[in-house]
Amino acid sequence: MSHAQTPSTPRPPAQPGARGAQPTETRDVRHPSSRPERAGAASARLTDPDWWRQAAVYQVYPRSFADSDGDGIGDIRGVTSRLDYLKDLGVDALWLSPFYPSPLADGGYDVSDYRDVDPRLGTLDDLRDLVAGAHARGLHLIVDLVPNHTSDQHPWFRQALAAAPGSAARDRYIFRRGTGPNEEAPPSDWMSHFGGSAWTLLPDGDWYLHLFAAEQPDLNWENRDVRADFLHTIRFWGELGVDGFRVDVAHGLAKDLTEPLRSQPNLDNVLPSDGSDPLYDRDELENIYAEWRAVFNTFTPPLMAVAEAWAPAERLPRYARATSLGQAFSFDLATTEWDSAAFRRVITTGLADASRGEATTTWVLSNHDIVRHATRFGLPAGTPLDAWLLGDGTEPPLDQALGLARARAATLMMLALPGSAYLFQGEELGLPEVADLPRETLADPIWERTGHALKGRDGARVPLPWTASGPGLGFGGSAPWLPQPASFAELAASAQAGVPGSTLELYRRALRLRRELQGPESLEWVDTADCVHFRRPGGWQSLTNCGEHAVALPGRELLLASAHLPGEPVTVVYPNETVWCR
Ligand code: NOJ
Repeated sequence: MSHAQTPSTPRPPAQPGARGAQPTETRDVRHPSSRPERAGAASARLTDPDWWRQAAVYQVYPRSFADSDGDGIGDIRGVTSRLDYLKDLGVDALWLSPFYPSPLADGGYDVSDYRDVDPRLGTLDDLRDLVAGAHARGLHLIVDLVPNHTSDQHPWFRQALAAAPGSAARDRYIFRRGTGPNEEAPPSDWMSHFGGSAWTLLPDGDWYLHLFAAEQPDLNWENRDVRADFLHTIRFWGELGVDGFRVDVAHGLAKDLTEPLRSQPNLDNVLPSDGSDPLYDRDELENIYAEWRAVFNTFTPPLMAVAEAWAPAERLPRYARATSLGQAFSFDLATTEWDSAAFRRVITTGLADASRGEATTTWVLSNHDIVRHATRFGLPAGTPLDAWLLGDGTEPPLDQALGLARARAATLMMLALPGSAYLFQGEELGLPEVADLPRETLADPIWERTGHALKGRDGARVPLPWTASGPGLGFGGSAPWLPQPASFAELAASAQAGVPGSTLELYRRALRLRRELQGPESLEWVDTADCVHFRRPGGWQSLTNCGEHAVALPGRELLLASAHLPGEPVTVVYPNETVWCR
């Protein structure tokens, strides 16, 4: 699995699904509502149904954002305590990565109860307070939905293990007999994204499928219980007040399980563009998402959803239809190196794909699964990121100043594009990847499952520095679950707030300006050698200089520059700089 390309990542030890979740039927919604309007949002309902089309969405990885009770793990109250910071930052919405009860085999992407909050992170009431606090500040809130797999501690999987082969309880997952004379070989050659076979053998001779860690058994989406339970979960969160969902592994739910199972030995292969892969991006997904959409649309305004779908670009519009999830991530910017032609290609394709559907396109430079862009752009082109991480980030050496300059420029470029931009917590501080985490602290399942051949994604998930000194640099508590490097101190939010030219202030100004300037979802390219240069409706333009020489400022009025200090006279755009002007 290549680090740059996969939707993958981490694991620690398990604790059982805390409060005995009731997967189906039982309703524990404490805000009954006669109509499915956002009960939790009642005080400040946000009504624009198109709010997501050009939104700047800030991803919160809850365990690493802010820790309100000092136990070293970020929590929901921690997020609520920082809502003013997020409002001041100027984002439109928050996306909360999983906060559900979880044994943390994969950083929370192994859910043992879909309709509760992990007790270490808080309670449902804390989440209600967060929703209300966000809405009161005009911020939308979307949550992660993880439908491809549950935790192995989910009550359903425990029931399946306790039940016999062939039972109804096992039909909610994907159990098969082995192959070979004594069924001693796995049912197929399918591999886990985290390394090793995607099948695990049980003592009774059944194997179960897990495309990620063994603690993440894949659900069988042909099973009616599974379908009904997720509709229940969607309603539950909608009624609690959330505005939508980021859908994990959205391309994976439907699988071709007809016997004999077809070969698919490398999950990271480029998928066929006709939906014929046995595991991914199949046409049957449409039926599943049409059922979800019917529920989304019972809310006012409808819930939104964005698909994490690693599908060929030309198939992404299928997920982004108004009858389906409505929007799909494009990760192409996150895998593009510092090159004007490559950026232009990716942007052109993203916009063209979006124009074939009803959705806007999405832009991502960093998230919890990939090496932070302030680091990627500071490494020589073509650096294999997995190998670089394994060497603790020493070879080749990182040019941190260059990485940060390019990251700031790339962010301004992204924020000038039509469509929605997804930001990852800490990028507004210019945080680099932490490549030299002590090995004993690594929690990503990739580390163990690959026999320490790949380190995984922890380096992007190190708890945020809020203050330049003090225990945990203001994250909360003295021992954050992943140690922060000393270099985080000078990048702390408090050290950057109000400082002209700091990365935090650049993001603040950019996000505010973006709101003011935003107009129709189109752009017009300008040919400027070695630059990514485009005009937006309303007469403003963005120019990113990827070349080696300064170029003349293209407009008369400078709006924002990523390298020049505020107030400094600007007549040229430096290499590795973006300017907005008109
Ligand atoms: C994608 C998520 O972003 C990643 O963190 C997770 O490991 C996999 N899906 C499996 O849920």
